[in-house]
Amino acid sequence: MNLEDCHNFDDFRKLAKKKLPSPIFHYIDGGSDDETTLKRNTEAFNSCDLIPNILRGTGKPDLSTKIFGRKINIPLFLSPTAMQRLYHPDGDKASAKAAEKFGTMYSMSTMANNSIEEISNISSGPKLFQLYIHKDKSITDDLVERCKRANFDGLCLTVDTIVAGNRERDHRTGFTTPPKLTLNSLMSFAMKPRWVFDYLTNKKFELSNVKNKTDKGTNITKSVIEYINEQYDPGMNWKDAEYVVRKWNGPFALKGIMSVEDAKRAIDIGCTAIMISNHGGRQLDGSTSPFDQIKEISDAVGDKIEIILDGGIRRGTHVLKAIAAGAKACSLGKAFLFSLSAGGQKGVEKLLQNMQNEIERDMMLMGCKNLEELNISKLIYRK
Ligand code: LAC
Repeated sequence: MNLEDCHNFDDFRKLAKKKLPSPIFHYIDGGSDDETTLKRNTEAFNSCDLIPNILRGTGKPDLSTKIFGRKINIPLFLSPTAMQRLYHPDGDKASAKAAEKFGTMYSMSTMANNSIEEISNISSGPKLFQLYIHKDKSITDDLVERCKRANFDGLCLTVDTIVAGNRERDHRTGFTTPPKLTLNSLMSFAMKPRWVFDYLTNKKFELSNVKNKTDKGTNITKSVIEYINEQYDPGMNWKDAEYVVRKWNGPFALKGIMSVEDAKRAIDIGCTAIMISNHGGRQLDGSTSPFDQIKEISDAVGDKIEIILDGGIRRGTHVLKAIAAGAKACSLGKAFLFSLSAGGQKGVEKLLQNMQNEIERDMMLMGCKNLEELNISKLIYRK
């Protein structure tokens, strides 16, 4: 099996599984508790169906949209995700280059293995930085200032991770940052010699953006759950969020908004966007899915703030449904990390190409020339 054989999410997932040691594969693949919300994120798209129109002289549709002040060529971009160096030696560089090639947005996690400066040097494409508020508040100021100097277009603050979700797969596999060989994990690493070779012969693993502030996760091994619980501020509140909005003073999203009430408050503190997200089903299991929430949120605030749907996207039709329900764009987490694991930059390009083809074909079959034509009248909710 190789990249050419990857036609959909499951294909990329299979290829990634072949290449990655199991603790790393399961870190991407897993959710929290019973993974009910993880499953719901994708299943929710089946709660409604698309209603196509015909004979509209559609031709080739325009798939472009605008988020965080930048035009993107497809209504789909790469979510901020941690530690991409574990999935491919090129890490964030591969994702940033692939996104740039497709004219879409790349996002960098606070927990990236490449630095803000490194990525800004190699890509002039649209770039979003994802912030976690640490107990050490000087980290916030440092990251925001560096993003400004590096010309990042937007900032998003993750608000759904004041404590780590119960990721039982990580407990079982002993997944840590940096990865550590234990009696438990020895076999799973030994079975992927190519990964081990790449890992040992490439740039040292580090949490590039915070290593000047903490050794944890770079030289001191931690499970991700320990890292989150030790480093992030569990008392984060609206004042902290407002502080970052003002400090950044540019396109800004809260990532992890799931209710109308919080979406309204995001507007009040000056956010220009919200990312409806439950962190890929990795935090509060049993919580509702982004697609289940989007219509109500969009009805309430869709004309005042950019809405991004993050979670569960596997198909072009999922993107179409999200846009019809009020999203300006969607973002990919797991799907993108499997494609990165499957083939580095080429893997992400293959995924983006597949998704672009799907969205374009689906738009034509819907009879929609552009994304504005894709509105709520194109959806029928099942009883
Ligand atoms: C996670 C955090 C690090 O989901 O974003 O693992």
